[in-house]
Amino acid sequence: MTFRTIIEPFRIHSVEPLKMTTIDERRQALRSAGFNLFGLHSDDVLVDLLTDSGTGAMSRDQWAGLQRGDESYAGSPSWFRFLESVQELFPFRHVIPTHQGRAAEKILFTIIGGPGRTIPNNTHFDTTRANVEATGAVALDLVISEGLDPATPHPFKGNMDVDRLEEVLGSPGADVPAVFVTITNNSGGGQPVSLANLRAVRAVCDRHGVPLFLDACRFAENAWFIREREPGQHHRRVTDIVREMAALADGMTMSAKKDGLANIGGWLALNDDDVAEQCRNLLILTEGFPTYGGLAGRDLEAIAQGLREVVDHDYLRYRIRSTGYLGEALIAAGVPVVRPIGGHAVYLDARSLLPQVPALQYPGQALAVALYESGGVRACEIGTVMFGRRPDGSEQPAALDLVRLAIPRRTYTQSHIDYVIEVCSEVAAHARDLPGYRIVEEPRSLRHFTARFETVPAA
Ligand SMILES: Cc1ncc(COP(=O)(O)O)c(C=O)c1O
Repeated sequence: MTFRTIIEPFRIHSVEPLKMTTIDERRQALRSAGFNLFGLHSDDVLVDLLTDSGTGAMSRDQWAGLQRGDESYAGSPSWFRFLESVQELFPFRHVIPTHQGRAAEKILFTIIGGPGRTIPNNTHFDTTRANVEATGAVALDLVISEGLDPATPHPFKGNMDVDRLEEVLGSPGADVPAVFVTITNNSGGGQPVSLANLRAVRAVCDRHGVPLFLDACRFAENAWFIREREPGQHHRRVTDIVREMAALADGMTMSAKKDGLANIGGWLALNDDDVAEQCRNLLILTEGFPTYGGLAGRDLEAIAQGLREVVDHDYLRYRIRSTGYLGEALIAAGVPVVRPIGGHAVYLDARSLLPQVPALQYPGQALAVALYESGGVRACEIGTVMFGRRPDGSEQPAALDLVRLAIPRRTYTQSHIDYVIEVCSEVAAHARDLPGYRIVEEPRSLRHFTARFETVPAA
């Protein structure tokens, strides 16, 4: 007998209390934060879906690993356990530990980026784009056209458009030091990339002698989708699929705050000895000695154990199913979401839910603010606030205006998610009454983290 309900494959071992707030308290909190949800005190948030990055719950065995953490400056046994776990899945010659994903990006792009160069990706994540652009290089997004349409169903909407990639690499004077593929494609809805697409991208890279890197933050979720959706893959172990993805690449950047199941950490891995040496030299300058990078020995232990747990099939089945549960309930309630439902998050289509708010008045921001005000649910705008400011200072609407409900790993139960469904449905029912926003203060880059907003009165 098999049962339909897919339960959390763990019991709760220690609990964190949540604070209940009133709508007036939340309105006050919003005003103090300049309507930027990154500016809230997280104690004032009831269900925090701002990000799945570093917000997951660690397992008993990860906490035990913290006790084993060896804090030797050089050559700690915790480093070797970390290295073994990473190379078990990603057998690249060089593994360079960093305190999180963007540090790996910063180091790599400092070495391989620079003015006149172009880095294609299916879709650059915000920190990836910012780190590429900070070197003067161009960050080019080449996701397939289906990946830009929230309503079009496609099993692998994160795929790279290989024809456009071929064009870019073949154009006269192209200076492309690496091609990136982000698995899963966070900024495009958490959508997976197929093995067939990775093989095709690899073939284009080979023809032009350009190395291929994975932005592999959610590699296990991507591999699970491949197992579920790609013909001929269903019999395979996730670990085998991950190793095949790694074998197709020349290197990777990683934030262990996602599929490392850790609260901090990351790494850069690659095969090129010369680039690796330059990266290590920079690592020593900015992060630390190459056997700890920006991490304590106990963090290395937590990641080493997390990498063993994240490829567990029961965990991944629960993980992908519980994100699907939220998405399907919202679809049933008539809320427009990116389809199919991605791995780590459900993305609300704010542009279609708030047609009265022009893109440059930030429909995603308006919706995210309303979710917090109404029910204490914190989500993240992924749209014109995040991507609208161009390196030349101009502002343009982003390709999509989404609001991401990112699900922290192993943290919330089904009743928390049922509550989120209720809040989203209620806000969606009144979405056409919501006002737009204007920015009153913003930094030069990554403005979504610290910009301050005010409402734009209805015309
Ligand atoms: C696809 C992707 N790349 C890179 C990063 C950066 O990782 P970190 O936050 O650890 O710096 C993130 C973080 O959310 C991400 O989702």
